[in-house]
Amino acid sequence: MSVEEFDDKVLIVNGSSSVTILKFGASIISWKLNNEERLWLSSGAKLDGSKAVRGGIPLVFPIFGKQKDEKHPTFKLAQHGFARNSTWEFLGQTSESPITIQFGLGPENLNKETQEIWPYDFTLIYSVSLHEDKLVTQIEVENTGTQAFEFNWLFHTYYKIPDITDTLVNNLVDQQCFDQLVNQQYVEKAPVISFHEEFDRVYKNVNQDKILQIVDKGKVLYNLKRTNLPDSVVWNPWIKKSEGMADFEPKDGYLNMLCVEPGHVNSMILLNSKDKWNASQEISTGGEIKVQANIY
Ligand code: BG6
Repeated sequence: MSVEEFDDKVLIVNGSSSVTILKFGASIISWKLNNEERLWLSSGAKLDGSKAVRGGIPLVFPIFGKQKDEKHPTFKLAQHGFARNSTWEFLGQTSESPITIQFGLGPENLNKETQEIWPYDFTLIYSVSLHEDKLVTQIEVENTGTQAFEFNWLFHTYYKIPDITDTLVNNLVDQQCFDQLVNQQYVEKAPVISFHEEFDRVYKNVNQDKILQIVDKGKVLYNLKRTNLPDSVVWNPWIKKSEGMADFEPKDGYLNMLCVEPGHVNSMILLNSKDKWNASQEISTGGEIKVQANIY
């Protein structure tokens, strides 16, 4: 078991499992379990801090997408905010079992322009725990200033999958969703989600007792448990959108990736002075298909 810090990243190794976290964006760029890579990372991803990482687990804060309300303090921020585009501080190892490390981000780590646009005092503490059979990522947001602020949070997880056309996501039936491609709200009626074209939906207020499963030809690949993250974005860019993303490589990589992104994005979280907010995602692999259709 070891934690090794490099100039630009931190590597945790535990037997045949490992996780690699870039200091830029505190983005996880690799998670291996039984020596097998579980996250999709574009071969064209920029890992030098020049752009948010295309793949792995980028962190979205304090805004998901672009803010539409021009009076909101997040209006001038870049798409998905600044957490994925800022260099975090490595705070060290905080536990041996499970092996856990932390990263921190505050206004002092932001560039001047971002500090001016979003002038709040805050501390983000990001914890990554590598268990023998799962990966847990946890975030704490603290308002260290005197002014309240509002934010979104999202773990933008890119899963590695054998073939998107054989992939299903379950336990989202009857869930309210917002389809970002047609700008429409409706109730998801598909018993399981399948993929044949570009897909970009925000499922809202998904009961946190529901485990979202990514299934490949009847075999469970991933189980996603969420704490304090009511919404889940499901995204695959398919052919045309991938072509338009310079850092999306190989161009048929959309066949081997699927984003299932737990977050708090349908509404903003209001954090008053001195308050803290916590959330986490827990990803495990394998096991039985669990149908949890009728809990709302
Ligand atoms: C998803 C959004 O979370 O992120 C999509 O739902 C978006 O609309 C995608 O295209 C990727 O965003 P970006 O900024 O990393 O290209």
